[in-house]
Amino acid sequence: MKKLNISVMISGGGTNLQALIDKIHKDENINGHIKLVISNNEGAYGLTRATRAGIETAVIKKNQYPSYEDYGKALVDSLEGANTDLIVLAGYLAFVPEKVIKSYRNRIINIHPSLIPSFAGQGFYGNKVHEAAIKKGVKISGATVHFVNEIVDDGPIIIQKSVDVDFDDTVESLQEKVLEIEHEILPLAVKLFIENRIQLVDNRVKLI
Ligand code: GRF
Repeated sequence: MKKLNISVMISGGGTNLQALIDKIHKDENINGHIKLVISNNEGAYGLTRATRAGIETAVIKKNQYPSYEDYGKALVDSLEGANTDLIVLAGYLAFVPEKVIKSYRNRIINIHPSLIPSFAGQGFYGNKVHEAAIKKGVKISGATVHFVNEIVDDGPIIIQKSVDVDFDDTVESLQEKVLEIEHEILPLAVKLFIENRIQLVDNRVKLI
């Protein structure tokens, strides 16, 4: 049976990408593999992780193109060049052009480091999420894997998992707890997608 081609988009350290490499790409029993890693940041350590795993990489960034439309077309051309079946945003901090979202409707998933809808949407990314959670004094936080649509962090939720937030937690200690969850639920969501076990019912996800 044809292996599903996964393209991963990153901006930074790539620890989520590494979890996908270790738990999906290398596992012969899972019918999917990572064909391409795209970054908007040429200094992203995630590109080194991809190269080490023998995965093709590309740096595609908005300021290389005269328009947002051209940028979107370059991304779609690169993704189509890798025969992409699923796009995974793994710590990707740039906006996804509408052209990509339309071309890969319900085939783009993102990992967000909070329990959406809390601390999500425009301006909530990376440690800003944990800063807001600690400032609010929430007692649980966590991570969410969701489909990507035209509204930031708004697509149908696929998996969520929580962590306890202690009074003495810092941004760093909370980020560490949440990253551990991210590295668990993102590969799980990819595995469920590969096994065609994610059903969309009236914009809600039913796992079968
Ligand atoms: C982290 O803040 C993570 O919570 C979010 O993206 C950032 C970088 O993750 N998903 P990674 O180490 O580059 O995967």
